[in-house]
Amino acid sequence: MATMAHPEQWMNTSGGTTPVWVHKMPFSKYPRFETLSHDIKTDVCVVGSGIAGISAAYELITRGKRVTMIEARNVLSGESGRTSGHLSNALDDGYSEIAKKHGEHGAKVAADSHTWAIDRAADITKKLRLDCEFRYLPAIEISQYPRGDPNHDKEVRIIREEVEAASRAGVHASFREGLAVQGWDGKPDQRDGALFAGQATFHPTKYMVGMLEWLKNHPNFQCFTHTRMATIEENDIVQVRTVNGNTITAKDVVEATCVPIQKLSIIAEMEFMRTYCIAIRVPKNYIEDCLLYDQAEAYKYLRFTDCDENDDYLVIGGCDHKVGQEQVEGRFDELETWVRERFTKAGSVDYKWSGQIFEPVDYMAFIGKNQGMNHTYVVTGDSGNGLTHGILAGKLIADEIEGVENPWASLYNPKRLASIAKSLPRMVGHDLQINAQYKRYFETDIKDIEDLAVGSGGVLNKADTAAPMAVYKDEGGQTHRFSAICPHMKAVLSWNAAEKSWDCPVHGSRFSCEGVCVEGPAKSNLRPLDDFSKAKQHEQEAL
Ligand SMILES: Cc1cc2nc3c(=O)[nH]c(=O)nc-3n(C[C@H](O)[C@H](O)[C@H](O)COP(=O)(O)OP(=O)(O)OC[C@H]3O[C@@H](n4cnc5c(N)ncnc54)[C@H](O)[C@@H]3O)c2cc1C
Ligand code: FES
Repeated sequence: MATMAHPEQWMNTSGGTTPVWVHKMPFSKYPRFETLSHDIKTDVCVVGSGIAGISAAYELITRGKRVTMIEARNVLSGESGRTSGHLSNALDDGYSEIAKKHGEHGAKVAADSHTWAIDRAADITKKLRLDCEFRYLPAIEISQYPRGDPNHDKEVRIIREEVEAASRAGVHASFREGLAVQGWDGKPDQRDGALFAGQATFHPTKYMVGMLEWLKNHPNFQCFTHTRMATIEENDIVQVRTVNGNTITAKDVVEATCVPIQKLSIIAEMEFMRTYCIAIRVPKNYIEDCLLYDQAEAYKYLRFTDCDENDDYLVIGGCDHKVGQEQVEGRFDELETWVRERFTKAGSVDYKWSGQIFEPVDYMAFIGKNQGMNHTYVVTGDSGNGLTHGILAGKLIADEIEGVENPWASLYNPKRLASIAKSLPRMVGHDLQINAQYKRYFETDIKDIEDLAVGSGGVLNKADTAAPMAVYKDEGGQTHRFSAICPHMKAVLSWNAAEKSWDCPVHGSRFSCEGVCVEGPAKSNLRPLDDFSKAKQHEQEAL
């Protein structure tokens, strides 16, 4: 398994583990950019270099705008570099549920816009001649239970209903009795399922690196890395101030930071989940090339990517849980067992990683002008379909900036009220659940620093500790100490043993083991509690 080998790890990716995509696209091949060291003027400032930021930049540049992108770390260091790469209009939350919140018309708009995003990725691949494994393929949805189990029949009924709802929305879906995945030679007999045509997949970082290389050569594009946005101020113009003290003056700004850097509002309308993936070798052409999902609440998702002349990698994900609220142990093992029970020729597990996804209470991403703003646009709330949401955000935002009416805009409008109101009971439950996480003020993970194993962390919160302290003991046995209080809204963080990060159980902000902020809504690092920890934090940020 590839793990946190290089000191630059946290500048390249949001975790201690490394995703399978580096197998063909190592971090060293990502384009490099300078750090901003002066004030500049531009038409649109795009903050964040993931799929959403890159897609917005591409759509704006092709319409003649001057675009300046800024990125807090290296390009693609967010969730886009850690995705699993399905491009799908068979949306995770299901069209039956989407229609309940947004009506049949809303469900159709969701289907149309995600179909457009898949086709847009195909177009761009062709136009820019990207070598990125893009291909259309079917998606298969099956029960999590074997035939003969009464729960299998129950789930098959739900799948049939979803096929009908998806078809009404315009997705090419059908139910197939006895549907079996070619190559599934293991024991559980989970046959019967839905087939969704017109789905796609690609190598995500090859695609995005290809787009960035194209953008880099465009005279109207510039990008600055290690350039963190601190604030956005709006008057007639927008001023984006960086942590380093520079100002970008723009007509519009796109906050493509995965989670917007703000206190609440949209943030309160989402749940924050951690999801896990492994890449396991399988002989080439042994299993049919498809996307596969089961019906579990924390469902398994599966696809393939090229490994070498003999093998492909089967990428399987799942085992999701609320960020910072559950133990991470056992998740990768569960995924591996699932594969081996079903595909008996599976070989070695070469990569294991996890990442974060966001679940808006009414299932659709928030894309467009931010609440209370005139020139500040946001993209957030991927709901497991963040790649297609990111691609279609490019068009939505470019249209809105240009004043072009877009029939999808109201479904994704960050200011929408009706569907959010329908979700109030869920929001209240969610609020109670996350507010309960403040109970960590009365808990301690460790009784003494001596109790920590090397390479692990825990919160020390004793009567004689002034405030909860986040302690990480490195491989050499030295302790790195930070305030365990999240800079966003003061919750107590949890140690994530899989990624060696500090994760916030309230709104999902994340910090490296050196306390560097790698995921919002927090916008600053953890406060170091001694000179050694301060020096280590500076060292990591300077890489
Ligand atoms: C394991 C996993 C599997 C997934 N599988 C799928 C899938 O199969 N299909 C699918 O559609 N979606 C999937 N998703 C979701 C999808 O990958 C994400 O929603 C999407 O990549 C998010 O893209 P983004 O551009 O919004 O954010 P990111 O890629 O996270 O980019 C945001 C960038 O902003 C930068 N940034 C943050 N704050 C600042 C600041 N203050 N100043 C400057 N820069 C800043 C970050 O460093 C980061 O590089 C998956 C996600 C995970 C984790
Ligand atoms: S992210 Fe909101 S309190 Fe931590």
